[in-house]
Amino acid sequence: MNLDFVRGRMPERKIYWHESVSSTMTEAARLAAEGCPSGTVVGAEEQTAGQGRFGRSWVSERGFGLYFTVVLRLPVAPERLPVVTLALGLAVSDTLRLIAGVSCDLRWPNDVLINERKCAGILVHLQDSVILAGIGLNVNQLQFPDDISSQATSLALATGREHQREPLLVYLLGAIDSFNSVLLTSGIEPILQMFENSSSYARGRRVVVDQADGRVEGITEGLTPAGFLKVRKANGELFTVLAGGVRPADPSANLL
Ligand code: BTN
Repeated sequence: MNLDFVRGRMPERKIYWHESVSSTMTEAARLAAEGCPSGTVVGAEEQTAGQGRFGRSWVSERGFGLYFTVVLRLPVAPERLPVVTLALGLAVSDTLRLIAGVSCDLRWPNDVLINERKCAGILVHLQDSVILAGIGLNVNQLQFPDDISSQATSLALATGREHQREPLLVYLLGAIDSFNSVLLTSGIEPILQMFENSSSYARGRRVVVDQADGRVEGITEGLTPAGFLKVRKANGELFTVLAGGVRPADPSANLL
């Protein structure tokens, strides 16, 4: 990572970039507890225990991706946290389109997909009212471990060329600020609207959602005013997904 390039374009920003860490979430949590400013970025060339949602791991091969966590001190109530995740997805989507020339899909709440394969994931933790926004973006990977290879992709695989990580990082950090300021100044509604416009999963998509007490299958029907996903079950009941992995009901599609 050419940090001079990044710092030159955002001199105010506190950026810590490590060669190798267990997880940037852990490092960011430590810095947040020490009182680091909002916007502080903790990134790494490699994570040895990268965290995904639901206790999964995030494969973080050295030098091939962008793995970082941003510390956000935002006046957002805990129940609004799901919308912050959606705003982060929009920031990634804009970045991929404008910097890499790739259009992607968003799968509620936190998956960024290219051709139905996962290219980026978002992990949001709340620590003492500080938001830790973790983003893993597959940039130049040409292969993935066997267990995820059919479900994962990278910008390089999707476009057939290598991408510089620095401009992606610079733009993405700016986009995160922009979408968060939309959230703070205009509220949840525009974020929900933009998410629905950017996600083929938000409406009319047959999905399966794994819940603690079983699986729910139905057709998506937009988001609630708080940003949760609505799914219409075959019996006509409207189910609100508060958390859980959403995947296409079509078994031939991506299951990651
Ligand atoms: C998911 O899709 O399950 C979320 C993946 C989030 C991965 C990123 S990589 C940077 C940050 N550090 C971690 O350990 N996880 C997040």
